[in-house]
Amino acid sequence: MKKIFTILTLILFFSIGFLNVDSNSNYATAQEKGMVPGNTLGLKSDADLWRYVRTGKAGSTQMKDELAAVMIQSEGDNWRALRNGPVSTYGAIGLAGIIGLLVVFFFVRGRIKVDSGMSGKTILRFNAIDRFAHWLMAGSFVLLALTGLNLMYGKFFLMPLFGPEVFSAITIGGKYIHNYLAFGFMAGLALSFILWVRHNFPTKVDWEWLKLGGGIFKAGVHPPARKFNAGQKIIFWITMLGGLSVSMSGIALMFPFTTTMMADTFALFNVFGFSLPTDLSPMQEQQYNQIWHGIVSLALMIMIIAHIYIGSVGMEGAIDAMNTGEVDRNWAKEHHGLWVKEEDEKSGNIKPAE
Ligand code: HEM
Repeated sequence: MKKIFTILTLILFFSIGFLNVDSNSNYATAQEKGMVPGNTLGLKSDADLWRYVRTGKAGSTQMKDELAAVMIQSEGDNWRALRNGPVSTYGAIGLAGIIGLLVVFFFVRGRIKVDSGMSGKTILRFNAIDRFAHWLMAGSFVLLALTGLNLMYGKFFLMPLFGPEVFSAITIGGKYIHNYLAFGFMAGLALSFILWVRHNFPTKVDWEWLKLGGGIFKAGVHPPARKFNAGQKIIFWITMLGGLSVSMSGIALMFPFTTTMMADTFALFNVFGFSLPTDLSPMQEQQYNQIWHGIVSLALMIMIIAHIYIGSVGMEGAIDAMNTGEVDRNWAKEHHGLWVKEEDEKSGNIKPAE
């Protein structure tokens, strides 16, 4: 009995010794190799381990893949709070706000009529290529907007309405539409830019147009304008620059972890005195891209809703320009008087001196 007890004691002693030696040597080698997170108290300190893990750097696991090796990325909390907080809240307020404003405007001002009445004679405003470019850009934008809105708000509206299965199918389909139509939008945007940029540089006439509020608030007021008035020029440039920005951030989201566009942009801003972070991890790049993509798209949608209103129900005769391409001459004279004169001079309809 005494013998057995001695053997058991020895086994216990050696196993404790073995465990001790083992963990100590592991700890020592890990620390020497710089593998212990934070390299402070090593495996003895949970607080330091988790503090290191929360730096969002690879190294707290032994995975080779830089992204997979990041266990916790604290900036993800900030990104989520920003996306689900201010971005979606202010976006919804902006969208509801512009719709509300347009409804009020419609009831107060009514449809903007052609004051001199329709003449029955028309003038070519946009040819087939112009109209193709516009509808390619517009059609894809509308579908991108709807599928994008579903990603942000769908779970609040569509999921309770149709249930998770149908919502899931809609969202998966929407994702494909969003990803592929993005290229249609980019093509339409580029083509519209090439076709219309020459008409969109600011001139003195634009100032007069702006001073009279574009004549949209009062009947009988018709400020001068060439092919595009000042309001349209503003819409043109916001669409082009916003569209470019939303396309670039969209491409970065479509091909994740391949760009450093946000860090590069921040570095550029810092030249002008900002102090934005430029040492962004690949994950942070994606998060900033997503937030930017969301903000710019929502801002574009808010503006485009107003554009759609004025181009359709808000103004008599406007839609013809993008429908058949031919607009009524009286409409054209009231809204783009200088352009009608230029066109008539070109076609010999009237002499330059007139
Ligand atoms: C879906 C409904 C839309 C309608 C009914 C509509 C209607 C129109 C009309 C009638 C014009 C010509 C105005 C004129 O003769 O001077 C126009 C021009 C234009 N549209 Fe649209 N549009 C729509 C959507 C869009 C979208 C989604 C975009 C951009 C993403 C867009 C961008 C433009 C631009 C840049 C112009 C030239 C500048 C201007 O007239 O403001 N449109 N649109």
